[in-house]
Amino acid sequence: MIDLLIVRANLFRISDTQKRAKIKDEMLDLNNIENGAFAVKDGIIVDIGKTDELFKKYKDSAKEILDAKGKAVLPGFIDPHTHALFMGTREKEFRMRLEGKSYMDILNAGGGILNSVRKVRQASVEELAAQLKKRVDIFFSLGTTSFEAKSGYGLDFENEIKMLKAIKMVNDTTKAEVIPTFIGAHAIPQEYKSNKEKYIDIIINEMIPYVAQNKLAKFIDVFCEKGVYTKEETKRILTAGLENGLKAKIHSDEIEAIGCSEIAGEIPMISSDHLLKITDRGLEALKKGGTIATLLPGTAFSLKENYAPARKIIDFGIPTAVATDCNPGSSFTESMPSIITLSVMQMNMMPEEAVVSATINAAYTVDIADRAGSLDVGRQADFVILKEDSYLFIPYHYGVNPIQSTYKKGVKVAHSADC
Ligand code: NIG
Ligand code: FE
Repeated sequence: MIDLLIVRANLFRISDTQKRAKIKDEMLDLNNIENGAFAVKDGIIVDIGKTDELFKKYKDSAKEILDAKGKAVLPGFIDPHTHALFMGTREKEFRMRLEGKSYMDILNAGGGILNSVRKVRQASVEELAAQLKKRVDIFFSLGTTSFEAKSGYGLDFENEIKMLKAIKMVNDTTKAEVIPTFIGAHAIPQEYKSNKEKYIDIIINEMIPYVAQNKLAKFIDVFCEKGVYTKEETKRILTAGLENGLKAKIHSDEIEAIGCSEIAGEIPMISSDHLLKITDRGLEALKKGGTIATLLPGTAFSLKENYAPARKIIDFGIPTAVATDCNPGSSFTESMPSIITLSVMQMNMMPEEAVVSATINAAYTVDIADRAGSLDVGRQADFVILKEDSYLFIPYHYGVNPIQSTYKKGVKVAHSADC
């Protein structure tokens, strides 16, 4: 007895063949099965193959048969870098940037991240959770079935923990799978502007142990940037996280290259993110560290900056992932289809490379490849049915939602009204 049989799908499995993030030419093969099918039981894929074969096998025992009518079916997108939990929005700052003010000018004047901090500090854990739940539905409608979300708008013990508890609440009460990251070092809180060392001390000695002991986050992240956290401070904070069992990732080379990516060659780091300004030394470090380059073209687009050198990164043999960076300041979007479009049109990725970067490689970035990111037997039935028969329509027919429906663990969580 199986719960669901999907038939007549143009399947792109994006199989986890290598058991690691895909590199170079591996990123060009989406493991297509024409007229494909798969069987789902208890939210898990239990069989996969051709429609004729699986239909014969399961037609009498399937509780439900879903005819994909030849449409493309892919693993759900995994968005491995977001700040999707926030209160309020920053459209006035958006306009200030259009007038010529820089992102860092706004932050240094007490706006930017610090603006969002003021709003998050005023909210209760329930209000934060309610806000994130609304955003989960947007993610589902755009084909994202798992996403990472960071703290970082609390910037003190109570409020950083409150954010991570809100993420846990959403995981406990919805179908969402949100991977929590602790980023107490997202900015320097105004009350510690002239005593950054004291705040770092609180992060290392109070926040990190509490977060780790209470399993409130899986990752630790730092905004390593000129005027925010230096390379040395970043390394100290990430090392403390590693010692407490968290996995390390980093905001690096977003505005200026100050050597942050080089930390990847010095301590274990799963992902280095942004990389708009990455240097050759940084690239060498990522390769040496086996670190995934997580590229956020929505941020380059919104900040009107040059894009990360994706071609150079891929050709150098470093695996890439792509993410929205969904946040109210530098990239306000929940749309992985838009990120795939920007990856192809502005970072010169091939569509297959972008799709791999948004699925299996993204799954490795947030350490969930054992259960998500590919349509393989034993993985969660997290998948999307597109409105067309090819993934090429994602970057090609841009600015519209290419998703017909989204399934999380075999259950439909979003469906487009026009299908
Ligand atoms: O990835 N640069 C740091 N963090 C975010 C922006 C957060 C915000 O502006 O609220 C980023 O760009
Ligand atoms: Fe970010």
